Amino acid sequence: KLKPSSWSADFRRKKMASGQLSRAEALARSGCRHACHVMLYSSTKAQLFGRSPIKHIILMQMRFDGLLGFPGGIVDPSKETLEAGLTRELLEELGVAIPISVEDHVETYYAPASSPSPSQLILHFYVKKMEEEQIMELEKAAASTAVDHGEEVLGMVRVPLYTTKGGVGLPAFLSHSFIGNARSQLVQSLLRLNLVSSWELHKALTHSLRIHA
Ligand code: GTP
Ligand code: MN
Ligand code: MN
Ligand code: MN
Ligand code: MN
Ligand code: MN
Repeated sequence: KLKPSSWSADFRRKKMASGQLSRAEALARSGCRHACHVMLYSSTKAQLFGRSPIKHIILMQMRFDGLLGFPGGIVDPSKETLEAGLTRELLEELGVAIPISVEDHVETYYAPASSPSPSQLILHFYVKKMEEEQIMELEKAAASTAVDHGEEVLGMVRVPLYTTKGGVGLPAFLSHSFIGNARSQLVQSLLRLNLVSSWELHKALTHSLRIHA
């Protein structure tokens, strides 16, 4: 039987093998570029077609490259903190400076160079819960005053969390193309925050693979 200390060491090794590292470890590495992205979400009482609860609004964006991702971007930790940099990116991409703090940090990944991201990057992911009214204000600003609108960002999109009788909704959304590991960031967040039950999510992932098959 493993002692708790060796169990946690084993867990740490597994995390490192999967490319996961702590915020502090990431900042201590020199010669790496850093990017910070955030999942902004709220609960909602709205109903689809006036009958199915939508439950939560999650904001993602259609990027200039046609891929779905979270708002955020490249941050230079020698010039600004990760969180200040993320807040700056949100101002550029959403038109509103949403304050992000260290407590909103969820995880950090080391992403080796690969197409379509030719340089190695350390990716920091954050999650922040907001009020529905704030999310609606963000959507308005993102489509009007945000300087990146129509250039880096083609539009904000909400994630459908339901699966329709026809097997679309979340399965169809997950079948699109995402930047980097944005799809797994979304899936992990849905699980961690219990926004979709694990069996519903499992079913949606299975259906999503069949959509283009
Ligand atoms: P520029 O201002 O043009 O430099 O763009 P940006 O600073 O907004 O950077 P961007 O948001 O494109 O993010 C930089 C890199 O991070 C991308 O090239 C991807 O490799 C990666 N990336 C972008 N969005 C996401 C995301 O949602 N999740 C993850 N994990 N990585 C992302
Ligand atoms: Mn209609
Ligand atoms: Mn940007
Ligand atoms: Mn960006
Ligand atoms: Mn940028
Ligand atoms: Mn930019």
